[in-house]
Amino acid sequence: MMIDTHCHLNDEKLLPEADGIVAGFREQGIESAICVGYDMPSSERAAELAEKYPELYAVIGIHPHDATTADYDKYERLATLSSSQKVVGIGEIGLDYHYDLSPRAIQKGAFREQIELADTLGLPIVLHIREAYEDAKQILFEAQRYLNNGLLLHCYSGSKEFVKIFGELDAYFAFGGAITFKNAKHNLEAMQAVPVNRLLLETDCPYMTPEPFRGRTNRPEYVNLVADRASEVLGIERSEIDRITSENAKRLFIRMK
Ligand code: NI
Repeated sequence: MMIDTHCHLNDEKLLPEADGIVAGFREQGIESAICVGYDMPSSERAAELAEKYPELYAVIGIHPHDATTADYDKYERLATLSSSQKVVGIGEIGLDYHYDLSPRAIQKGAFREQIELADTLGLPIVLHIREAYEDAKQILFEAQRYLNNGLLLHCYSGSKEFVKIFGELDAYFAFGGAITFKNAKHNLEAMQAVPVNRLLLETDCPYMTPEPFRGRTNRPEYVNLVADRASEVLGIERSEIDRITSENAKRLFIRMK
């Protein structure tokens, strides 16, 4: 059985179908999924979905795109929501210099503040880092004393060299649909550099749909296509991939059963 460690059933594209999607999990070999927030409304919805469905967990936080909306009141609310045991981490937080939808200085501030918040709450962090690995490295190493509960680089798109660097922080790395794309060489090299006990799989649905369904709306069931590709590239049997990545997810997200 697999765990989709990053999905957005809280997104309006998937939310109306949540009942049917979760009902299909068992048949598709999915044990559970983590629904991830990116701003306050989506974090509230992620927490609600996690309360509603035993198979869902929530990660809540403010994405770098929305960093300008982050303030003390929002952090208070995140802390209140995280009193539920179904909230298993803080994210997705980080830096996005590809879109630069919030000024970089503000992205960095919200990133640092939520790293500290997660530490106060005793929760791991889920990071969204895009075209900002150098600055992310600097912030994470400066904040190392707050990284006591684990960190995950979601949709990892950095180099294999950065796998080593973040490995010094005992980071986990999640891969999704991008490893099935034709131009995946860079991502595959990075995946091969990740210690197998630090590897996670995800869909990031409704985005990042794997081949051969690229262009359609992504869904948690397609985590199977990601696992097939990981199995092929790493030369590890598919059943072993499922077992190892599920164990890894539960080791990082200690509130998951
Ligand atoms: Ni995401």
